[in-house]
Amino acid sequence: MSLLVAKDLEVKFKTNDGLVSAVNKISFSLNQGETLGIVGESGSGKSQTVLALMGLSASNAVISGSVKFDKEELIGMPIAALNKVRGDKISMIFQDPMTSLNPYLTVENQLSETLITHRNCSKAEARRKAIEMLDAVHIPDAKNRIKLYPHEFSGGMRQRVMIAMALMCRPKLLIADEPTTALDVTVQAQILKLLKELQNEFKMATILITHDIGVVAGACDRVMVMYGGSAVESAAVDDLFIYSHHPYTKGLMAATPRVDIPSTRLQAIPGEPPDLSNLPRGCAFAPRCAFTLTTCAMQKPTLKNLDKENTHLVACFYTQQRLETV
Ligand SMILES: Nc1ncnc2c1ncn2[C@@H]1O[C@H](COP(=O)(O)OP(=O)(O)OP(=O)(O)O)[C@@H](O)[C@H]1O
Ligand SMILES: [Mg+2]
Repeated sequence: MSLLVAKDLEVKFKTNDGLVSAVNKISFSLNQGETLGIVGESGSGKSQTVLALMGLSASNAVISGSVKFDKEELIGMPIAALNKVRGDKISMIFQDPMTSLNPYLTVENQLSETLITHRNCSKAEARRKAIEMLDAVHIPDAKNRIKLYPHEFSGGMRQRVMIAMALMCRPKLLIADEPTTALDVTVQAQILKLLKELQNEFKMATILITHDIGVVAGACDRVMVMYGGSAVESAAVDDLFIYSHHPYTKGLMAATPRVDIPSTRLQAIPGEPPDLSNLPRGCAFAPRCAFTLTTCAMQKPTLKNLDKENTHLVACFYTQQRLETV
């Protein structure tokens, strides 16, 4: 059953230079215990998509569409009700733990706070559970290290503390926005492995945001690729890696090193990302695309099924036409 259903979610920002279309009518759903990867280059609207559903968009944002979580509508939900959902049923981990952890509070204070606020736990009970959670994220000597301040931990350990904090209330949905980008490759792999392990243990759904399509391979069930604020392809992760259809997804794949394919030269995608305050009338990727048809400059493509099971969707006139004619 779907835990989260987003329909036509749209985020526009009012600025002095006009309206910035950050997220354009995105629809997706997530089942209980499932992991959805959101992939795309910088500025493609990944963070704004999840910030909008968390009610955390900037004050100049205009949001429309619907996001149902556990059958409750999140868009337009009064702040008191939203606060109950956030931190209790939905948690978020951000890219840089130092900006999310309070440098003046011990790790114990920060971990316990959620349980004391959301679960009415006593201080002693919250402490016991916080130590348990630090153990679960593999922080050695958790009993003593819980008394330390964030700066006394290494980058990778701080990210583990952040994950522990996000999981304290056992959320049904965890949103991880580039949780490993600030870490070196080895620590990145450890954190991704830990997230997967915890997800299996706690049976929570996860949205994993990354600009690195390689990261989603082992970590996600489904992937949504975003470009210029729109979803351009959505598929089961294995499907996408076996056969990606959208020229942008193909470009991302060609720009990513793969261990399963003999070494070839990595290809950069030519051209620049689109200006979101002045998106082209047609497909936003058309100016960078090698396969444009006349329609591509005239109309915006929408996601269409490529298979009967309705599991592989692509927003590309060229692909849709090519597959119709095979
Ligand atoms: N308050 C705001 N006012 C105007 N534009 C904004 C505002 N906040 C974000 N944007 C714009 O929205 C667009 C989408 O931003 P978003 O943060 O979702 O990108 P992203 O895909 O998460 O990129 P990154 O990989 O760099 O984190 C960007 O062009 C950004 O400049
Ligand atoms: Mg972002």
